[in-house]
Amino acid sequence: MTSSNAAVTADSQAARIFEWRRGFNTIYLIHLGVQLGLFKALAERPGATARQLAEQLGLQVPYVERWCMTAYGMALLEAQEEGYALAQFYDSILAAPSHPRYLGGYVQLGTEVAAGDFIHCLEAFRTGKYVPFQGRGDAFNLAVASATWGLQVLTAKKILPELPGLSQRLAQGGSVLEIGCGTGNCLVQIGKSFPAARVVGVDIDAQSLATAQQHIAAAGLSERVEAKRSDLAQLPMASFDAVVMVEVLHEIGVDIRPQVVRDAARALKPGGWMVIVDETYPSTLEQARQPEFMFPLHTGFEELLWGNVIPTREEQETLLRGAGFNGPIDRSLIGEGFTLLATKKPE
Ligand SMILES: C[S@@+](CC[C@H](N)C(=O)[O-])C[C@H]1O[C@@H](n2cnc3c(N)ncnc32)[C@H](O)[C@@H]1O
Repeated sequence: MTSSNAAVTADSQAARIFEWRRGFNTIYLIHLGVQLGLFKALAERPGATARQLAEQLGLQVPYVERWCMTAYGMALLEAQEEGYALAQFYDSILAAPSHPRYLGGYVQLGTEVAAGDFIHCLEAFRTGKYVPFQGRGDAFNLAVASATWGLQVLTAKKILPELPGLSQRLAQGGSVLEIGCGTGNCLVQIGKSFPAARVVGVDIDAQSLATAQQHIAAAGLSERVEAKRSDLAQLPMASFDAVVMVEVLHEIGVDIRPQVVRDAARALKPGGWMVIVDETYPSTLEQARQPEFMFPLHTGFEELLWGNVIPTREEQETLLRGAGFNGPIDRSLIGEGFTLLATKKPE
């Protein structure tokens, strides 16, 4: 593919590499700010100097001075009084883990997971080996859960409540199934959003399920929210008003995807909603350069070593049609590049 942009020069092409290299450093700088508590301390104490931050957090003054200066240069910080303050909106984005916009977990997934995988890619490109999600351990599960926190909140508080007819069904004691519930954050949020509903989460990762059960108990929801390992084919037929999958479809092996979506369809009541929040891989080279596909393009690269394959739009629609969803499929883009698919089981 050739570029038709006449303004491209050797200098401008080189400048892109320098920019990405600075981006690489900046991600580590943000990681340090999150892990060492620098962003949180600045959110609580705007105007603090590097020395005050270092003393408060038990860190080395020259290191924190260098961190602050670089973060200021990257416009993550602003100058305030004798010290620094967070630039606009970074209090919620980098200092508030429960805020839906929080991106500390996504940064951590890059520095702690992707960075390690990229090192192993040298070998994997020759051998084709990969390490699937299951069995990567609890720190990994929690990092993923933190990275997808915003989506879980959005699903429970906005996407599900806005689906026509669903809130009424759930207010009358209906139920929701989440396939691939991971560590259970979404289950808990759905349980809180719909206080009369029964919520069932299933997953194939034992460690994630154990954490999910703890989260459900800590939220006091054990009576009507559960997380369990379950063979989807054994789920009772036509028993759920909604089936939800958040960042799960692309995790499921390509060979078993049709069966999983058919099992989901079977478990839904007539008129129930199938809700998939996932990513859509570009189908063409042209799409690979479009902004809305940048995020899934990079997820596809980053998760090579998880063995994940991000579905294209055509694959998503073939899966849903193949499972008998023959009504309209609502498709919308959310956030940085996620896709929301919602369709109803025929009445
Ligand atoms: C990226 S995580 C998302 C977890 C959770 N929905 C969230 O947003 O935090 C994907 C989850 O799908 C689960 N998964 C993958 N294949 C599955 C399958 N065939 N059946 C059930 N869960 C599956 C994984 O074990 C993992 O917990």
